[in-house]
Amino acid sequence: MDVRIIYEPILRQVMKQVTVFDERLKKEADEMVATMHRQNGIGLAANQVGLDKQLIVLEFTPQKDDETPAIPRTQLCNPKIIKSSSETEVMTEGCLSLPGLELPVRRSLAVVVEAQNLRGEKVTVKAKGLFARVLQHEIDHLNGVLFTDRAEKTNTIKPYTFAKVVFFGSDDFSLPVLKRVVETGYQVVAVFCESDKRGGRGDNRIVSPVKTFAEQHSIAVFNPETKEEIAPLLAQIKPDLLVLASYGKILPEEALRQPVFGCLNVHPSLLPRYRGATPIQSAILNGETETGVTIMSMAKSVDAGGVIAQRTAPILPNDTTPVLREKLAELGSQLLVELLPKYLSGQAKITAQDDALATRTTKLFKELGRINWEEPAELIVRKIRAFLPWPGTYTTLNGKRLIILEATVKDSTVLPIRVQLEGKTAVSWEDFLRGYQSQLTREPWYGKIYR
Ligand code: CO
Repeated sequence: MDVRIIYEPILRQVMKQVTVFDERLKKEADEMVATMHRQNGIGLAANQVGLDKQLIVLEFTPQKDDETPAIPRTQLCNPKIIKSSSETEVMTEGCLSLPGLELPVRRSLAVVVEAQNLRGEKVTVKAKGLFARVLQHEIDHLNGVLFTDRAEKTNTIKPYTFAKVVFFGSDDFSLPVLKRVVETGYQVVAVFCESDKRGGRGDNRIVSPVKTFAEQHSIAVFNPETKEEIAPLLAQIKPDLLVLASYGKILPEEALRQPVFGCLNVHPSLLPRYRGATPIQSAILNGETETGVTIMSMAKSVDAGGVIAQRTAPILPNDTTPVLREKLAELGSQLLVELLPKYLSGQAKITAQDDALATRTTKLFKELGRINWEEPAELIVRKIRAFLPWPGTYTTLNGKRLIILEATVKDSTVLPIRVQLEGKTAVSWEDFLRGYQSQLTREPWYGKIYR
């Protein structure tokens, strides 16, 4: 039997009454005891192994010198707490469905439980101390309640430092996210980044800021050449959680299955809008005045996983791709570390995306950067802002390429702010005018420039 972990829906459902007390039930109850022992648990509820029935098992035999009180083997159907002491006690609890996590929980010191045994006979169990606590924990399970729903201190980072985190990211959107996760105190055990020169998806820059940071913090760095290498590496690392922010490769399903607590993606758009490789560029290009970040639980198809958290950010009139990317990376990293305790304790809500509202991002290629002066000034300037630094936006001057790095719209014309002539350094438009005025006046496109 496999134990179901954290966000499996059955853990949040109310289990059905047991009405048939046959050999099969007995077999299932015994298998549950075996599964529980294998994983060093002291209690297990049927939904934790995927069975929709009101069935719990408990047993604990202390080792020599262990002063923890024993719990007799108990297998109960349809258990109900009919009495619980008003006197309570706080003790640290864990759960096989949230492996590694321990949090203090306040529970009644003693309970009386009415149930049926595996033959269907009515039984009454009076328990106190640890026995009573485990009974309450397991009966909670049957009602879709996790111990973290009742736990104290769920929001402090301390309990979650057990989690071994692997980080996937390659560019300067990734770095602030990794940084924040490490600085908050999470245990990042490995970083995966792209080995070649392609930094972000669809973005041609040479970057390995992520690698540099990881090495400075003595975190193992992996640069798999192919995505097929990823799952076997993860199988060795055995991570609890995977965090991905602008990696560059699409992770295979087999890789996504490795982390016990799942895989989170920080995506710079308000999903389901702008799915794909160039969400920041596309939002600027389309003249959006607002975008945002999404923390998503990663599924098979790209950017189609469940949404866990979102935060909006304005797109200011002069925002370029690098400026907006930096803002969204900050926002995303902040949102992620705020979310992590909630997520790791099973308290987050994962909402499916409405595919009908999905939009795709624009595919960028080099030729897109050539300015078509027939287009409205607003669109030309949006392209200049969106295509920085790649593919860049350019026109020609005397047969040479003139890159427009920054520009604004004035009186429905384009007012360049910073330009760079092929082979030269970037200069302000004013300086450029002084040197090239006569050449400029010979270009037909100069008529579209603000003067
Ligand atoms: Co449990």
